[in-house]
Amino acid sequence: MSRWKFVGRTDELNRLLSAVTSTEGRGLFFSGNAGIGKSRLLREGVSALPTDRYAIWSIAASATTAALPFGGLVQVLPAEQPQGLSPAGILRWALEVLQQQAAGRRIVLAIDDAHLLDPPSAALVHLVARAENATVIGTFRNGEQIPLPIRALWTDDLVDHAELSPMAPAETAGLLAAILDGPVDAGSADRLGRLSAGNPLLLRELVHAASGSEELTRTYGIWKWTGRLELAPDLTDLIDTRIGQLTPGVRAVVELVAFGEPLGLHLLNQAVDRADVEMAEERGLITVLQHDRRTNVRLAHPLYGEVMRRRCPVSRTRRLQAHLAELLERVGTRRRDDLLRVAVWRLDSGTAQDATLLLGAAVQAFSRYDVPLATRLARAALDAGGGFDAAELLATILMFADRPEEAIEVLDAVSPGTGDGRRLSRWLTVRGMVTYWGLSRESTVEEIAARIADLTDSADRARVRAFEAIMRLHRLDTTTALRLSQGVLDRPAASVAARELARSTIAYLQAAQGQLQRSGTAIAQVHSEAARWRPDMPYLQLALELARGTRLTLAGDLAGIDAIVADEFADLAGAGDFRLGTGYLAILQAYAARLRGQSDAALRTSLGACAVLATSRVYAGLAQAERAQAAALRGDATQAAEAMAEADRTQAPGMAVLYPWLEQARGAALAASGDLPGAVKQLTELVDRLRADGFAGHEVHVLHDLVRLDQAGALIGPTCSDGSRRTVAQRLAELSERVDGNLPPLLARHARAAVSGSPADLLRVADDFAALELHVYAAEAAATALHRLRAERPAAAAEARERLAALLARCDVVRTPALRAGTPVLSEREWQVARLAAEGVTSRAIADRLFLSARTVENHLQRIYAKLGVTGRAELRAALRAIPGHEDGDDG
Ligand SMILES: Nc1ncnc2c1ncn2[C@@H]1O[C@H](COP(=O)(O)OP(=O)(O)OP(=O)(O)O)[C@@H](O)[C@H]1O
Ligand SMILES: [Mg+2]
Repeated sequence: MSRWKFVGRTDELNRLLSAVTSTEGRGLFFSGNAGIGKSRLLREGVSALPTDRYAIWSIAASATTAALPFGGLVQVLPAEQPQGLSPAGILRWALEVLQQQAAGRRIVLAIDDAHLLDPPSAALVHLVARAENATVIGTFRNGEQIPLPIRALWTDDLVDHAELSPMAPAETAGLLAAILDGPVDAGSADRLGRLSAGNPLLLRELVHAASGSEELTRTYGIWKWTGRLELAPDLTDLIDTRIGQLTPGVRAVVELVAFGEPLGLHLLNQAVDRADVEMAEERGLITVLQHDRRTNVRLAHPLYGEVMRRRCPVSRTRRLQAHLAELLERVGTRRRDDLLRVAVWRLDSGTAQDATLLLGAAVQAFSRYDVPLATRLARAALDAGGGFDAAELLATILMFADRPEEAIEVLDAVSPGTGDGRRLSRWLTVRGMVTYWGLSRESTVEEIAARIADLTDSADRARVRAFEAIMRLHRLDTTTALRLSQGVLDRPAASVAARELARSTIAYLQAAQGQLQRSGTAIAQVHSEAARWRPDMPYLQLALELARGTRLTLAGDLAGIDAIVADEFADLAGAGDFRLGTGYLAILQAYAARLRGQSDAALRTSLGACAVLATSRVYAGLAQAERAQAAALRGDATQAAEAMAEADRTQAPGMAVLYPWLEQARGAALAASGDLPGAVKQLTELVDRLRADGFAGHEVHVLHDLVRLDQAGALIGPTCSDGSRRTVAQRLAELSERVDGNLPPLLARHARAAVSGSPADLLRVADDFAALELHVYAAEAAATALHRLRAERPAAAAEARERLAALLARCDVVRTPALRAGTPVLSEREWQVARLAAEGVTSRAIADRLFLSARTVENHLQRIYAKLGVTGRAELRAALRAIPGHEDGDDG
């Protein structure tokens, strides 16, 4: 009774098929209780699809694959993963592989038991679902924890979700006949159907339990069941009983498969009696599947595995795992995941002794960004005598996992002498990285520098120098940082990693100094060498990201930020377990949202960044500063102040180079609190400091903040050689010739227009800001223009009002000083009257509603028109829309 035909479920099957084949189809996931028939339905659907039109991959996740990174998709991906890919790079590579193999056909991924997908596989499935030419279908069991990228499939509307209900009585009767391979007497079918409550697996187990007994008999070809069960037994109990009755031989088969599925048939045959394998298959306990050129064995149903594993005492489990590891080692580890599988079995069974094997597996796990597994493996490799290499890897992984103290302990235990230069240089750099960024110990720089004398080889020295340089950059010793980095680049012996690290340092500096073009070239170069440096120095990614992010933010290049966020699958990265760099990407996202006026998203995203970065001190202060900015933009002075306090508390001294962002945010927080003189003082001092440090890239932004606080004409900086001091506007004009990009000239024009007070110029500036999606700046410029027009030429104000309203419509709540400055102040009563009048309610009706006299309403309206600078009702609506935050009505 191992295989019977598919019964019923016509609607569900059609729905599944049209999810793939119809033009508006977009994938479908079925959920349901254990044994309800999800897997079978999915299999049936998949086998009905034509393979000439669809490239179909069927994946069955399981408890075993869930423990390995990309374990779930092991059948789909090629054995060799290219070296040196970032988390996003691996996902991109995997998607490309699928696209290639699909050769123009539509991709169909069918995922059974998606709740058991490991995080990277889940992220990849999500990515595939997003691709134009792909559909994802699948199942998951009710009550299980679903990986976030999978859950996001339906929350993001990439697939539909349906609950698979129990089978109807007519269907269970049909199923019974199919299982028994013959007609069943109606009364028996009815009773068994009710006992099973429409659950096919339960039905199958009931039949199984009865078969061979006198309860289930066949007369004249008709099956009859005379069992006396009244209450349905528990499904797992039934399975448990069945497994308890297995012969030792068959049981051994099921056990091995339960712990090792999918298991190669020939491997299984080496361990157990062939006859028992056949018996287990015949009994419907295991299934043998052909996959590519391999024959794999899996359990016929996941519940068998669950029951089996639960029944198995710990000592026996360990013996089984050790046995599986031995078997796989004996036949040779050939498949993609074999090395990791063996290593994990060795770990779990307490038989991990082969340091080389463990180290190799740790490298693999780390290169797939499974930090917890990589940590376990590397630690085991070290314990097994893996020596320096194991310690270096373990320390690096611990550093990534924000566990610097443990990393130091590991490193100090393998401190090399001066005899081995290569080793010493690696040790110094990893240890330096952990103490400087992980433990915020600034003295590291001097310690490292002092040890360089112990190194004789030029390449070894270059590696350490490159690290010293970036540390010096981060602590604001920019001159030395630049000199040392240049020195590394000039040294032919320097490794690619050392060289590109030095280039990242220089690229950061160039961006801060306003040389955005040269910085861009350098970043592109580092990026293009990634495959060569990543295996040697994975953490270089962080230096590259910081340089790239700094350059884009200073350029005000929001589209560029969008592009890298999309490119790194920032949302997926957060959902899968790729914490690496996620926090910094979130800061960039928040920045872009803020400048677009999406204050809601800015606040949410920056809060997310604060949460992700809370345990690592490197970017914690920066994340809090961005949160302060978002809060300030919304006019939430309390939260802005609170975030600034957090920024100061968490900002690592070793990341002093980030001070411009923190100090700029402090200015915004002060302005939000209403302390405009304090804000101006703060930003003016910051300008002086930035000028002294040569950070012109930052300076233009801070000068522009002063323009936004109505300080375009204020004097700034030292007395010049001509004996006079410059105004903010003049300084911006000066810098716009030195700082690359199209933003600085625009900022300078804004300042000039603010000084001259020309509404036309201000409106043009607003348009240009809007073209760059810098909506907040655009709205502020338009608001200033409107303010002037209202006073000078009320007749010309209408158009400006429209423009401002349109700009504000693209923003969420934005309450900056510049927007408030020009906002007319209406009393609460005036707001009520104005809103009703704008909706077209007559004065008479307003009077009735508000219990006022018609005359009073008229008086109110005249005052409102005067305050808003409009001539009558017709313009009232636009005028109200041009008041930031008018929806809330509490601005009055
Ligand atoms: N429509 C059907 N026709 C024939 N057999 C079916 C049908 N639906 C389910 N079965 C059989 O019932 C058993 C249980 O179904 P299935 O394995 O699909 O359950 P499931 O919902 O995937 O359970 P789980 O959540 O435990 O994975 C299987 O042996 C399957 O072949
Ligand atoms: Mg299933």
